[in-house]
Amino acid sequence: MTFPQHRLRRLRSTPSLRRLVAETSLNVDDLVAPLFVREGIAEPQEIKSLPGVVQHTRSSLVKEVQELRDLGIPAVVLFGIPEKKDAMGSESWNPKGIVQEALRDCKQVVGEEVALIADLCVDEYTEHGHCGVLREDGFVDNDATLDLYRKIATAQAEAGADIIAPSGMMDGQVRAIRESLDESHFYNTPILAYSAKYASGLYGPFREAVNVSLENSDRKSYQQDWRNAREALEEISADLAEGADMIMVKPAVPYLDVITKAREITNVPIAAYHVSGEYSMIKAASEKGWIDGCQVALEQLTAVKRAGANFILTYLAKETAKLL
Ligand code: PBG
Repeated sequence: MTFPQHRLRRLRSTPSLRRLVAETSLNVDDLVAPLFVREGIAEPQEIKSLPGVVQHTRSSLVKEVQELRDLGIPAVVLFGIPEKKDAMGSESWNPKGIVQEALRDCKQVVGEEVALIADLCVDEYTEHGHCGVLREDGFVDNDATLDLYRKIATAQAEAGADIIAPSGMMDGQVRAIRESLDESHFYNTPILAYSAKYASGLYGPFREAVNVSLENSDRKSYQQDWRNAREALEEISADLAEGADMIMVKPAVPYLDVITKAREITNVPIAAYHVSGEYSMIKAASEKGWIDGCQVALEQLTAVKRAGANFILTYLAKETAKLL
């Protein structure tokens, strides 16, 4: 007598059997922690919609990066919040701007032990909160913005960025940044392109984190339409042709299909950004006792790897590193 219906369940009966046959594993090496550093504050500032995440001072940032290093986290991605914002976001390429200072601080302390990824965009630096220069009609001027991105790339590399990650979704941004890095002799500085970045409602808490108002947050004219997956492959192919060393899909969990499709067309490392809203939803539901936050965190991050991502930018990085 056989019970074929038991075949799959047999391998699930103990934790060790489940470990043995697991197809996907989540490791500390897969985690990248996004960090915020704000100019002109004396103490770290809480971000209400991102419980457990703060806007760092320069010195609290360095401490955090050291702790992450001690937990084995291989990389962090830095976002700066300047004291003064203007129409062009000029603090973003100021060699004395907050992110450049923070990069130097971190480099000095962690050297090559933690890869420093610099998010390259102007939205944290402009008064209007858009990712580029605005034309008179209110649209973002793609090519004028590329000129700013060139300056930012060099400023970030000079300050010690190990990886430049353009997140503004301007056409031609990867080529422009590659040229700028090569001209300033940063041939070895890789580009992690936010290639398939959707105009998502899940960036809400990030806006609070970088002091950008939500009213001004419609980016549908340059970020991707969430109805489209094939278009993402066009974006990714274009970035690869322009010289991207790694590509990213963002947000993560609603776009697992895009990650899987991207995996089929390229062998370069694929990053996924588990964004602020994805984090906050877990935290909020877990606070209410409606879900087990730790389990859901591991489940979601593992799913992102299962879909085909190589590493994940996530606000859950530190707590997950402790769990693993
Ligand atoms: C742009 C940028 C954003 C995020 C990362 N880089 C905001 C946006 O494009 O609107 C969002 C990340 C998150 O929500 O966690 N510099």
